[in-house]
Amino acid sequence: MNASHRRTCPERSRRTADGGKLMRIPIIAGNWKMYKTEQEAFQLASDLKQRLKDVDGVKMVICPPFTSLSSVKRAIENSPILLGAQNMHWEEKGAYTGEISPSMLLTAGCKYVIIGHSERRNLFFETDNFVNLKVKSALKFNLSPIICVGEKLDQREANKTEEVVENQVRGAFKDLNAKDAEKTVIAYEPVWAIGTGRTATPQQANEVHLFIRELLSSEFGKECAEKINILYGGSVKPENSRELLDMPEIDGALVGGASLDAESFGKLVRSAKQS
Ligand code: PGA
Repeated sequence: MNASHRRTCPERSRRTADGGKLMRIPIIAGNWKMYKTEQEAFQLASDLKQRLKDVDGVKMVICPPFTSLSSVKRAIENSPILLGAQNMHWEEKGAYTGEISPSMLLTAGCKYVIIGHSERRNLFFETDNFVNLKVKSALKFNLSPIICVGEKLDQREANKTEEVVENQVRGAFKDLNAKDAEKTVIAYEPVWAIGTGRTATPQQANEVHLFIRELLSSEFGKECAEKINILYGGSVKPENSRELLDMPEIDGALVGGASLDAESFGKLVRSAKQS
């Protein structure tokens, strides 16, 4: 993949040539991080169920802390909202104090699991190898991994964004085939934009998304790459979501802070429907 080819590559339309149908259904995923007690989580999930019961055409995922998975599952029963977790171990069981296994998540009702979030990578020293083991294990257990990648500020300033993101993507997808790869979701989250109120511009984000798509295309073929949702994350809120989600390569958002409030998460979901 060379840079000049990438820059001149025409922006792919969100719609297919024949029927104008969306190729990828946008995903809005809420990462609740270490917020909400069980009671608070139940409350928020119940509120979301009420607000979002009529939504279609957008996949909605909420990822509460482990301790609230079962109460949130109860709260969103018979609603289109799907349950996700924020992390997992790759082994099915074992002497791993403090860890949670893929089969535990599956039986708790999870469909998605966030893997390799920058907070896990930077604060808990998760490596690309760990991320890869978790991705493979999630797929084995029929959980869709939301694989997070993104550069730090000094890396962007040193023009290393593509190098960093390429290494993370290659690391995460090591040993996968196209059939597995198409079941994944990627979240591009520049670390400097997470929780800082500083968002990548839609153009900056789209450029990296396109880079990732082409990387996937060269590894797994165009057809597979076109099926993978690439979400943007980093200070997404209702005020900026439309312009981000309108970009051709941005297929949804992974949202932290703004997912903790039912009204703002509801607005985000609706903005995805309109774009
Ligand atoms: P933020 O977090 O929306 O609060 O920036 C995003 C994330 O960490 O996934």
